[in-house]
Amino acid sequence: MIDPATVQKIKDTADIVDVVSDYVHLVRRGVNYMGLCPFHNERTPSFSVNKSRNFCYCFSCHKGGGPINFIMEKEGVSYHEALLQLARKYGIEVKERELTNEEREKQTRRESMLVANEWAKNYFVSNLLEKDEGKDIGLSYLYGRKITPEAIKAFALGYAIDKSNDFTQEALKKGFPLEILKDVGLTGTAQQGNLYDKFRGRVIFPVINPAGKTVAFGGRDLKGGPAKYINSPESDVYSKSRELYGIFQAKGDMVRENKVYLVEGYLDVIGMWQTGVKNVVASSGTSLTDGQIALIHRFTDNVTLIYDGDSAGIKASLRGIDMLLGHNLNVKAIPLPQGEDPDSLAAKLSTEEFKKYLAYHEVDIIRFKINVLLSETVNDPQNRWQVVRSIVESLAHIPDKIKRDIYIQECSNLLDIKESTLSAEVAKSRIKIIEQEKLKRRAEELNKNFPEKAEISSPQPSSVETAVSPIDSSPLHPLEKELIFNCLRYGFITLWENEKPEEGFTTVVEYVSQELSYDNISFTHPEYNKVFSHLFDLLPKFKEDLKNYEQEINAAIGEKRKEGYEKIGGRNISLTEISKAEDKLEEELIQLARIKRENFAKNYILDSLGSHYEDSVRKHTIEALAEKHQLSSLFKKNKPEEKIEDKVLPIVVNSLNVLKNGIIDQQLKELMDELKELGSTNPEKEKEIHAKIGEILQMRRRMAKFIGDRILSPNSIKSKK
Ligand code: CTP
Ligand code: MN
Repeated sequence: MIDPATVQKIKDTADIVDVVSDYVHLVRRGVNYMGLCPFHNERTPSFSVNKSRNFCYCFSCHKGGGPINFIMEKEGVSYHEALLQLARKYGIEVKERELTNEEREKQTRRESMLVANEWAKNYFVSNLLEKDEGKDIGLSYLYGRKITPEAIKAFALGYAIDKSNDFTQEALKKGFPLEILKDVGLTGTAQQGNLYDKFRGRVIFPVINPAGKTVAFGGRDLKGGPAKYINSPESDVYSKSRELYGIFQAKGDMVRENKVYLVEGYLDVIGMWQTGVKNVVASSGTSLTDGQIALIHRFTDNVTLIYDGDSAGIKASLRGIDMLLGHNLNVKAIPLPQGEDPDSLAAKLSTEEFKKYLAYHEVDIIRFKINVLLSETVNDPQNRWQVVRSIVESLAHIPDKIKRDIYIQECSNLLDIKESTLSAEVAKSRIKIIEQEKLKRRAEELNKNFPEKAEISSPQPSSVETAVSPIDSSPLHPLEKELIFNCLRYGFITLWENEKPEEGFTTVVEYVSQELSYDNISFTHPEYNKVFSHLFDLLPKFKEDLKNYEQEINAAIGEKRKEGYEKIGGRNISLTEISKAEDKLEEELIQLARIKRENFAKNYILDSLGSHYEDSVRKHTIEALAEKHQLSSLFKKNKPEEKIEDKVLPIVVNSLNVLKNGIIDQQLKELMDELKELGSTNPEKEKEIHAKIGEILQMRRRMAKFIGDRILSPNSIKSKK
């Protein structure tokens, strides 16, 4: 950390005009300056700099601020990094917090890795431009693909000599430690101990981060070998999920145009860049990650995805858009003609024509998604329902309520569905998303606080006492009963797949357990505590059994598939009809498997705890699961295409919130009583209690705001009984 005194010094010293003049041609006018705005494209100056206030502002695009803000916006860097940049510029010594030895070692290692990469980048460039092999093979390949010298320079394209360890030898000669070369993935050791270059006979694409550091390389094969590309491994300087190819070259134009085009490949970025569309980056063939989206968001709110015309992957990549929408970005799409990718189309058209193509074919992403999905379902009600589900899911990701509502209105027309129906479905999905995000944030918080033992999924409701004492007839009991019964009814239903597949899925019981332990809540009713921990203990066995059962399901589905295909084959119908029938069969099989899994989950609890050796566990389980209406409304009348978790989650969330609200009420009541008893004998104590009450009221307001109309007041539950 920089100490506050230094911060102030930088603020005082940094003269914004000096900084700005690096980028803007200033026109003098009194004490102020006007110039062309660095944040958007303009011909007449609307960017003002007020020297005495040390402040800049664009009257047209409204960007600007103090020196730090200016640097942050302009360079797309963090507050911390902006401070450091300013400090460097003005020769201010920055006192960082003393690093631990371990941290210092890591820091120097990182720096060495970056230096090695920087050198490697330059080495590959000189191979390409100066050595015969580079020119004959690498450069001629690039020229053959119509890459311009200007682009080769801007993207620092290079070439790796096709010898076993040309690069490594040269790097060792220069004094780079072998360990560092291995860490960045440029050098490998063969079994006999010989060193070899990881990149050989390839055109090199350096991956450069926004700060201009070379963090990785991609190497394209030129000989028709099995691996078209090889890429640097993850390392202390390279996390694939946080980088985007081309961001360094694109960031200025992303800010100026307030937009970015997202494409797939290295060559697509370069192809578009050299045509003059420079605000373009690539996710390099993988699906987008949160980190990459956050990176985009530092520079712009507007993202346009460009889809290859023949890409069968369109449908798969549609999934990535939910994440973009979730970050509150405005997302659009441009489909390309059959057989073209951005690179090939850019090469065929003039700059003018290419830009026109982009402008003309850009469509809103939701509209695009609806079109793609609907075009595949001709009047098949079941498929139509799937389309609706998928759109609902996308809409639910949009955080901005107004934006969401506008979309809902529009989609209700496009999908020919009542607006109120669509709206209700979106609201249901939205709950799920909010709860998932909340858990994710909490997990991150926990990880931050205890980086070493990142344990979030195991704790049972802790033995830590709540402020409420376990008296026999606590007013909380009915609220607790509602929650524990819901856990018994739906406990092993899967709420969602976890982000990392190896972490499996989250069930209701796990979700509730995390919620309770986060707020330090345990049931005041001892029997409910017991039931809950038995339920929780059962979970590993359930997951194990489910895995085995899935093999059974798969076998059964395999049988059905075989039967189905035989039946279809036996009918005398056209090819298109056959493929439609097959699609339908596959859908049905997926649903069948899901229903089987759901049934397994819901029966499991009754089967195990319903005959438990503890009286109380048995009693509550049976009572919870014997309430007919609960079961029938949720499980039996459930349309096969509706997902059970969409119904279960709101119910569980609600009972959790009702309980939490009840606990808050109880605490409030106790404090009020205390206050009353106190009279006016002890003003100090009185003040203290008032403060506590204030805190609780605030918490209650916050909660009400968060849970909104999903909360039932505890009274309404009691009166229902
Ligand atoms: N990619 C990769 N490894 C592969 C294939 C692809 O890392 N084996 C990544 C690269 O970042 C590549 C992107 O996915 O740029 C898109 O792949 P593709 O379209 O196949 O490659 P292009 O870059 O378009 O190359 P070309 O035009 O030469 O086929
Ligand atoms: Mn290509």
